[in-house]
Amino acid sequence: MKIVVVVGARPNFMKAAPILKAIREFNGMRGEWAGAIQPILVHTGQHYDTKMSDAFFADLEMPVPDVFLGAGSGTHAEQTAEIMKRFDPVLLREKPDVILVVGDVNSTLACALVASKMPSTCRPAIAHVEAGLRSFDRNMPEEINRILTDQLSDFLFVTEESGVRNLRKEGVAASKVHFVGNTMIDSLREYESRAETSPIMRTLDLAKGRYALLTLHRAANVDERESLAEILEGISELSKLMTVVFPAHPRTQKKICELGLGRYFSESIRIVGPLGYLDFLCLMKHARIVVTDSGGIQEETTALGVPCVTARDNTERPVTIDVGTNLLGGTRRDTIAKAIRIQLASKARTSLPDLWDGRAAARIIGILGDRYMPADAMAAHAGTGQIVQNAR
Ligand code: UD1
Repeated sequence: MKIVVVVGARPNFMKAAPILKAIREFNGMRGEWAGAIQPILVHTGQHYDTKMSDAFFADLEMPVPDVFLGAGSGTHAEQTAEIMKRFDPVLLREKPDVILVVGDVNSTLACALVASKMPSTCRPAIAHVEAGLRSFDRNMPEEINRILTDQLSDFLFVTEESGVRNLRKEGVAASKVHFVGNTMIDSLREYESRAETSPIMRTLDLAKGRYALLTLHRAANVDERESLAEILEGISELSKLMTVVFPAHPRTQKKICELGLGRYFSESIRIVGPLGYLDFLCLMKHARIVVTDSGGIQEETTALGVPCVTARDNTERPVTIDVGTNLLGGTRRDTIAKAIRIQLASKARTSLPDLWDGRAAARIIGILGDRYMPADAMAAHAGTGQIVQNAR
């Protein structure tokens, strides 16, 4: 089985790393099927700063990409088009059986679209990891990326039950949908103990459970002065109770300067640059509370049992509210402050969503292998106990 794995932006790396590892484990087995999966790792270059990309490859022990497209930033149209133009010849040359895309960023849709338009003689199957999530807010570029990628995909790997329901309502054939769990949580479980060795708490002089962690990068929250100032006002009460550490995305840092909002930041709200995976995981694990507009952090805090306030009006990850630790805080100062108060007063929750057990990537490789590999190969590998069959 030849499989092209696409990554492009920061939140892709921790979702793809466990899949690459599951492939390595398959290939490492003894006997005639050793090396029978040929992975080709393609990095689109949507994120290119060392701190947004290389640092994650190092922390997550990912191999150097086989192909780097260097697409870079731009408007959505420019970025999507540039990735498509650069990915097209790669697929024509490599002719894989499967292309696997993760998440909901522009790279995800751009590469799925290119694959779907390959000539029928060499059109690969498209596998989407994190399929079916819906915020029902089409103002979010990620929502458009999710809907369209799912429409184009042949294998829809779903992280939570809501995804299965959403895809059913959209008329996606049940045979394409596989509820496998969450590869982002595979990474979290794998690196949780190593994250404890991170020096970040000492570097920032923080004590466990006595600081808050903030991340903001969504265009709707950070691009306009009024929206960003409103959220920062919403956390001012929290910043009087404890230090708020704010590892800011380059986009957010740029906007804070352009919009003249530097006055919000001092010792009580401390801006630091983007952090690596292990440092951030360590900070998340020991935070008293996390305030964020990220998708993935809602899930990671649920897995860690850390209270989270999401500075948005909706979430495409409702399981983080239903069984997890997440609460929607909206984007107004009073709603955010209220959500923070509720979370600080509530008891810890520790239940985990179904199948967030660290074995999602093994399920994915099991399902793809059953379709593209000889039964002998899968049987030999099942003997090693590494492949986990679809649980449902
Ligand atoms: C992208 C994803 C978003 C994800 C986020 C995580 C889309 C539509 N959005 O948003 O879903 O949550 O990544 O980070 O794909 N920049 C740098 N260095 C970099 C990358 C970006 O300085 O390495 C700056 C540039 O000014 C760039 C801006 O950030 O124009 C936005 O980058 P872009 O990739 O367009 O979107 P993100 O906001 O990062």
